[in-house]
Amino acid sequence: MSMIALPSRHEPRRLRRRANLRALLREHHLHPGDFVLPLFLIEGEGLRREIASMPGVHQHSIDQAVAFCGEAVRLGIPGVLLFGVVDNACKDAHGSASWAADGLVQRGIAAIRAAHPQLLVIADACFCEYTEHGHCGVLDAQGDRDDSATLENLQRQAISYAEAGVDIIAPSGMVDGMVMAIREALDAARHEKVGILSYAIKYASAFYGPFRDAADSAPQFGDRKGYQMDPANRREAFRELALDISEGADMVMVKPALPYLDLIRDVRERCDLPVAAYNVSGEYSMLKAAARNGWLDERASVLEALLGIKRAGADFIITYHALDAARWLDQAP
Ligand code: PBG
Ligand code: ZN
Repeated sequence: MSMIALPSRHEPRRLRRRANLRALLREHHLHPGDFVLPLFLIEGEGLRREIASMPGVHQHSIDQAVAFCGEAVRLGIPGVLLFGVVDNACKDAHGSASWAADGLVQRGIAAIRAAHPQLLVIADACFCEYTEHGHCGVLDAQGDRDDSATLENLQRQAISYAEAGVDIIAPSGMVDGMVMAIREALDAARHEKVGILSYAIKYASAFYGPFRDAADSAPQFGDRKGYQMDPANRREAFRELALDISEGADMVMVKPALPYLDLIRDVRERCDLPVAAYNVSGEYSMLKAAARNGWLDERASVLEALLGIKRAGADFIITYHALDAARWLDQAP
């Protein structure tokens, strides 16, 4: 890109001195339509349990989740991302509760779909919330993930979500071949309309800590470094991206967001698919904690962080701040 030289007396401040001029020249804007709200479902009725490490975020029974989605719709938030949180008694070595036709997420999808037909219902597809060992799939005798067995289960899960009426399936387990396996299963079952948002570039991040409390999905031994990406790597991300695009992903995600803004920008420039950024649990909790201590202005810091993610190149942001941010954006200025 060739740049025309500026006159030696150019004064950028001339364009900053008045609020309306700043508004006129603002290059990026946040809008409630940029957000997807993650939602943790639990069994029961009338339940709303705050997550200790994520103040202001709750696990909801399905009836409460439906009401909560009503608030999202009123605020102009286009979609929700569902996670199921089940009792230990429902967990097994394979995570089979995740593909039961009458499973928690399946019932949640149907209930939200029925109550709020305009809301996009996205379901996270993984197993760590449903396996007794807490890993994202089936393990072999050595404790390593068995990807071919996991892919078969992922197909079962995807079809069960589709039957329940999901709009978009978001596989988050970093299983090689997951996008193709899900696409083939959906097409074979005549669910061609269901889209795939791939967690294509997902790092083995310390910022998932609060989520694992919220979803009761921490690995019982070991970690996820054998399948999630090394935070030190950038070129590897482009291989992940190329694979997921070739396998038929409709949209790709970068996760987490704030420590990986360079990757959001890279992905934006390297592909024409919609790019999602996941502003993860730990990113939420750190701003929330600082705000609660009076160390940061919550509204200003959250909106600045979200705007930074958008400016980096995200088309939309999955964020636990979605409702607060939408409310703040609703009020002037
Ligand atoms: C499950 C999953 C995780 C997140 C989304 N899906 C946790 C993990 O991979 O350990 C993290 C989301 C967050 O931290 O907000 N595979
Ligand atoms: Zn998982």
